[in-house]
Amino acid sequence: MKKLSRRNLMKFGMVGTVAGLFKVTESWSAMIAAPTPKEVEGPFYPVVDQADKDADLTQVSGRTGHAKGQYIVIRGSVKDISGQPVENASIDVWQANAAGRYNHPRDPNPAPQDPFFQGWAIIRSDTNGLYRFRTVKPGAYPAAKSWTRPPHIHFKISKKGFSELITQMYFPNEPLNVSDLLYSNKTEAEQRLMTARQTGEHEGLLVYTYDIVLSKH
Ligand SMILES: [Fe+2]
Repeated sequence: MKKLSRRNLMKFGMVGTVAGLFKVTESWSAMIAAPTPKEVEGPFYPVVDQADKDADLTQVSGRTGHAKGQYIVIRGSVKDISGQPVENASIDVWQANAAGRYNHPRDPNPAPQDPFFQGWAIIRSDTNGLYRFRTVKPGAYPAAKSWTRPPHIHFKISKKGFSELITQMYFPNEPLNVSDLLYSNKTEAEQRLMTARQTGEHEGLLVYTYDIVLSKH
């Protein structure tokens, strides 16, 4: 009986050790996340300041109308490579309106401006590293004769102690992603990290989740 329990103890001890090893390996791999890939800033970062840069881009404060287009919610987290939330990061986003036109004086696209679309926001991640904004799905636009940019949102994320990240967020299942000269220049792994996931609905609007990983200097 004594012998048996010792054997059992040994057996469980061994199992415990093996399980422990697996746990360590798993947590190590989960601890190191790939930073979100960078992308070019592009030519349409806003050059004229605006008072309203809040998290609802479908309205401009002081104007009575509402932006044209499909309203959507973009949400996600900002984390470091070890998976820790990054709070109070500055998240600067700008995008074309639903017709594919930027509120920028040098945008050559003849598509119409939308005076009720905010086009630009600067928000912050909360204490859990989370962020959310409401916007319209940006239209595709011509970047060159044989190059149409797929719908995308530009991001510039900064936080003291981390490298500033300038990138572009893409939408899933967009046929134009494949032929886009920027997107197609990324590896499949990078494309995955730069493409939001459709993750449900919020107050009747499609929600896209785009998680961001910052690297240190
Ligand atoms: Fe763009």
